[in-house]
Amino acid sequence: MLARLFISTVLTGVLGGAALAQESWPEGKGKDVVSTVCVSCHEARRFTAGGGYTPEGWQTVLDMMKNIGAPIPPDRFDDVKQYLSSNWPEKPKPKPVVIAGDVKVEFHSWQVPTPGSRPHDPLATRDGMIWWSGQSANVLGRLDPRNGAMKEFTLPTALSGPHGLIEDKQGFIWYAANWGAHIGRLDPKTGEVAEYFMPDAKAKDPHTPLFDRGEKHIWFTLQQANMVGRFDMASHEIKLITMPQAKSQPYGMVFDSRGTVFFEEFGGPRLASIDPVTFELKEYALPNPGTRPRRLAITSDDRLWYTDYSRGYLGMYDPKTGATKEWASPSGPKTFPYAITALNDVIWYVEGGAKPNLLVRFDPRTEKFQSWEIPTGGGVVRNMMPTVDGKGIVMAESGVNRIGWFEIRQ
Ligand code: HEC
Repeated sequence: MLARLFISTVLTGVLGGAALAQESWPEGKGKDVVSTVCVSCHEARRFTAGGGYTPEGWQTVLDMMKNIGAPIPPDRFDDVKQYLSSNWPEKPKPKPVVIAGDVKVEFHSWQVPTPGSRPHDPLATRDGMIWWSGQSANVLGRLDPRNGAMKEFTLPTALSGPHGLIEDKQGFIWYAANWGAHIGRLDPKTGEVAEYFMPDAKAKDPHTPLFDRGEKHIWFTLQQANMVGRFDMASHEIKLITMPQAKSQPYGMVFDSRGTVFFEEFGGPRLASIDPVTFELKEYALPNPGTRPRRLAITSDDRLWYTDYSRGYLGMYDPKTGATKEWASPSGPKTFPYAITALNDVIWYVEGGAKPNLLVRFDPRTEKFQSWEIPTGGGVVRNMMPTVDGKGIVMAESGVNRIGWFEIRQ
């Protein structure tokens, strides 16, 4: 009972709650569970208003909810899955548009051990391992892509909701606990975890962490809290900066070559920067008011590249000149471009709304696209980054419960 209460209070804080009126639920076996259990942490809209799921997709959602603590009676699991699958089946999604080209990629992917983990962010470490944040399973996972061996590290605080991951010089893995309001540090040798909690109750959801030069601080965004934070590696002091405009939703983050931190305002739509010495905050409006910039990449000329989640575009912003440019994503406006990264000044991103997800390569020199279907479907690739040797890019495949990478051959 205590655990239940704890879970509902923690998550209602993050998600907000409100139910569909009891009479508007479709009839069917499973209605009793769904109309009560499934609205205790978040609104019904959370699962009735989206694009729906296939039966396998609902299975993954139910595994995720079970991991988070949803009290679905084990003998009612099938009823619930059936009820959800028949009332909210997957709506048709855009077909990915494959654009041929000269570059070859080879995909590698592994199912992670815990069902319904929601592998959110990946991390390629210097020892060649690939890590993932198992957000719903409250674990950090590590894969050795050479032999497929995997290990999961359970985090000490229940429902930490691990999100973004970074590795420090000593090989410790740092994570932003998106539901648990802290920054954590895992020692992969011992499994020991240190937790540094936010000093302000409003700072609920640390999101994307990043080291500054010399690893003196970790900068991080807090999306719903509308803040940017800075964690001091020596003193462990946390400084929080509230955005000047409400609902800016700070999101993806990068450093430029001079050490200025740039980030997206998903709710803006704007980009923003903070001078690391003076803390001066600048905002840069993006040309289209409908844009929702989600993840951010940077090339060596300090140009910023963003996925426009709502309009299905790749966008570029040059902070030196204020110039912007946009390119329509290959499969159209409804493809929700999400994960993005740069490798050798070439942009790679994923259309997470296409089925299967589409991997897109964009060369800023020629402004040409090439693209590939992700063989496992991808299940919404939310983040990706290059491997340390630059031979490929790692990605977490949240909705299909997988972690992997692809090798690039020119
Ligand atoms: C114990 C609290 C809790 C209960 C009970 C619960 N959920 Fe959730 N649900 C969550 C959390 C937390 C998230 C993730 C929120 C986020 O995206 O940060 C979530 C997200 C979801 C999502 C979105 C998944 C995605 O990948 O974006 C769906 C769909 C969903 N829930 C359906 C359900 C259904 C169906 C039930 C009933 C079987 C249920 N939930 C019960 C806490 C709960």
